[in-house]
Amino acid sequence: MPGTLRMTAEITVSVTLPEVDIQPCAPQVESHLFEAIAQNLLTQGYSVHPGALPESLGDMLHDYVQRLPGGQFDPAGIGRDEQHTLVKTIRKDEICWITGDTPATKAWLDWTAELQAYLNRRLFLGLFSFESHFAHYAPGDFYKRHVDAFRGDTNRILSVVIYLNRDWRDENGGELILYQDREDTTGQKIKPSFGTIVTFLSEEFPHEVLPARSDRYSIAGWFRVNSTSTERVDPPN
Ligand code: OGA
Ligand code: MN
Repeated sequence: MPGTLRMTAEITVSVTLPEVDIQPCAPQVESHLFEAIAQNLLTQGYSVHPGALPESLGDMLHDYVQRLPGGQFDPAGIGRDEQHTLVKTIRKDEICWITGDTPATKAWLDWTAELQAYLNRRLFLGLFSFESHFAHYAPGDFYKRHVDAFRGDTNRILSVVIYLNRDWRDENGGELILYQDREDTTGQKIKPSFGTIVTFLSEEFPHEVLPARSDRYSIAGWFRVNSTSTERVDPPN
């Protein structure tokens, strides 16, 4: 166009981008599973996911528990602290509490922390802490029908059990029987096969472990609420 002055300017704009916190990809990878667990807990109070444990985590835990010296296991008891009595007619497994001081057990605690965070976001469960142990049932060992928490005791809210037994066969027994409620005497049988994840509300679902006929390895864990915030506190005089 005649008479029009065309100008080109080069402008340099300096923008400081906020630092992006790059998250490891695990939460996205697991979110399908965690969402399924959350949905199951909402609709039925429990979930059973065969073979759902992340392969690498299952492998690490399997190798770890296989190499754990027998001396690391203690006979399991019933109740906590001073009520901790060994009742061989009720349970016969041996256990090893998990502290997370090895790569395998740390990976387990990281994974359960992700699950805890997801369920808290999704279901507002207020899960605050987690404790778990390996369990070894030798042939003949069992755990009779029980609940993991008693109503009114604000402690264990959600139980999680995973199994570390490759090629578990029906004749090896050791099934978990999960009962729907205190009246249910039939229950549903769950094979303790490698990678199966079971969760259930600790106060609501009686369950038992049928006698194993082969060495049976699992991890049982419990998410707790913060009992200090629900305990009655007497005002100072
Ligand atoms: C438990 C328990 C179930 C299982 O340790 O409280 O119920 O299948 N374990 O190992
Ligand atoms: Mn139990």
